Parts: sequence; C-alpha cells; structure tokens
Amino acid sequence: MTSILDTSELAKLFGTSEKDVEQMCGDLIKSYNFRYMVLEPSEFEKILLDVIRTIDGETLSVSGKKRESDWISGWNDNLTAFVESNYDLRTLVPQYMYKFGVRRLFSRYIRPLDKHFEVHFYNVYRHYLFKTWFKPYDCIYEFGCGTGYNLVIMAQLFPEKRLLGLDWAESSIKLVDTIASIYKFNLTGRKFDYFDPDYDLEVPDNSVFITLNSMEQLGGDFQPFLDFILEKRPALVINSEPFIELYDESNLLDYLAIRYHQKRNYLNGYLGALKTLEKSNKIEILKIQRILCGNIFHEGYSLVIWKIL
Ligand SMILES: C[S@@+](CC[C@H](N)C(=O)[O-])C[C@H]1O[C@@H](n2cnc3c(N)ncnc32)[C@H](O)[C@@H]1O
Repeated sequence: MTSILDTSELAKLFGTSEKDVEQMCGDLIKSYNFRYMVLEPSEFEKILLDVIRTIDGETLSVSGKKRESDWISGWNDNLTAFVESNYDLRTLVPQYMYKFGVRRLFSRYIRPLDKHFEVHFYNVYRHYLFKTWFKPYDCIYEFGCGTGYNLVIMAQLFPEKRLLGLDWAESSIKLVDTIASIYKFNLTGRKFDYFDPDYDLEVPDNSVFITLNSMEQLGGDFQPFLDFILEKRPALVINSEPFIELYDESNLLDYLAIRYHQKRNYLNGYLGALKTLEKSNKIEILKIQRILCGNIFHEGYSLVIWKIL
C-alpha cells in the first residue's frame, strides 16, 4: 500500500500547522510525486543489515580538517557540469542527493516511488524555511554553502536581499560567483573556514546567518565558529543540521543513526552549548525541531533557530 508525504505529514515534520505549510508551499508540494511505500519486514531486515555493515566497515569518510581537498574536488565537478550545461541550475544538486532508493521518514524506512524524492523534499523544506524566517532581514550569510543551490532559492524568493555564500572550498566560491554573474543575483562568494573564522568579514545590522548541512562537518570542533557568531551578532541564526542530541537511544533506527553520526565525526555538543548560553541569558532559542526525515543512515535536516540577546 502506498502512502503520501502530504501537507499534513509535512506540517508534523516542520512543527507547524497544515494551513501554514499549504500557504507557504502548497503549489510546490502539488507539483511533486511524494508517494512512498513503508518497507515490508524482509526488505527492512536487508536494509538494516546493509546499514550495520556500512557503519561497521571502513568505507565511510570521516569529516574534519583533512577533508578540504575532497570538497574542492567534488564541487569542481559541479562547476564543470554547470558551465558545460550552459549554466543549468539543476547541475548544482550534489550527487549524494540521488544516492539512496530507501529513506527514513518518521523513524521508519520507506521506499519513495520517485527517485528525486529527497531533492523534492529538500526544495519544499527550504522554501518553507526561507519564506517563514527571512522576510524581515536585509542580508543573508550562508556558511558552508557548497554548490550554492540554497542561495539560488534565496535569490529567487528575495531578489532584493544581499546574499553571501561562504565556504572553505575555492570551487564553491567560483560556483557562487559564476551563478551570481550569469543570473544577475545580488550574491557574492567568499572564502571562509569554520576552523579559523575570518573576523574581517563585515556583518551589517539585520543580517541572518544560516548553515545547512555544513556545521555537521565540524565534529566537536564548533567553538571557533560559535565564538565568531557571538562576536558578529547577526540578528538571527538558523542551523539546519544533524543533531545527535535529538535521537532516542532506545529506538533501533535512532541508535544506528547515533552510531553513524559518531563514525563520521559529525557535529557533537553544539545544541548543549547553545542551551548553556541560553541558561546564562546570552541567547534565546526560538525553535528546536527534530525533522524526522533523512537518508538511509540518519536525519540531516533538524533545526535550531536562535538569536543573541
Ligand atoms: C554536505 S555539504 C553541504 C553544502 C550545502 N550547505 C548544501 O546544503 O548542500 C558541506 C559543506 O560544508 C563545507 N565545509 C566543510 N568544512 C568546512 C569548513 N571548515 N569551513 C567552511 N566550510 C566547510 C564543505 O566544503 C561543503 O560545501
């Protein structure tokens, strides 16, 4: 039997009302095929075994300071594809977005009918997130912006806002600057390393800082960037990342997500650090939302939204 990721399920994922989701991205949702099957027990067991074997094996890359060259080379492939396709924005979607036929949704494994399910879900999610939160602000800074495809959506939704795409990979900066010049977006690329933040970066009042699946790469080494945020005092901070603290160790799929997260050295301790800052009245956390959707291994899109007091 097939189910559908509809406005009601999306509202549960985003922690809001169906009406809100409908208003923000009803047409976009209708344009996609979000049908899926929940896996039968025999297929479930097979996937489970694959996940455990992968976690126990040696093929997963471990994030951290040594991975800069991998990102430079990965985004260089996207840059070549972008130029060779005569600047087709679809070439900006990272290859890993097409990798898995099976996905996690509400702590179950599902098999979507459309192989672009993840890309489509991410489109809806980003439209919902940006439309809900960006309106009052003048400048948006995306840190760890990769191919720049999040910035394209921001530029299309808010052409008047000033956008900055920051990343440590030169090929990412080239991509962002090429997108900006071809599509005449109010967008600039700039090199930035989370491990060694550039304090010369100017941040006007009324700016937003956003990270989307990029602080994940920091493991426990997030303090230099957190100090940088506190010093620069953006008006709002949005982090959409996998947060290990949100899983429930007593749930099998969550337990495996925790093991995967640890094996890849993904972000660890950041939510706790924010909660400590909140207790000492330095910041206010406006929203924490576990987004129960992800790939076969984990949930990559959970949210914390906060501001400096
Ligand atoms: C999984 S990709 C996500 C890219 C993009 N935000 C997205 O939503 O597709 C992680 C990004 O973080 C960047 N990154 C990793 N470590 C970084 C660091 N130390 N400083 C700046 N960027 C970093 C990588 O170059 C890459 O672009």
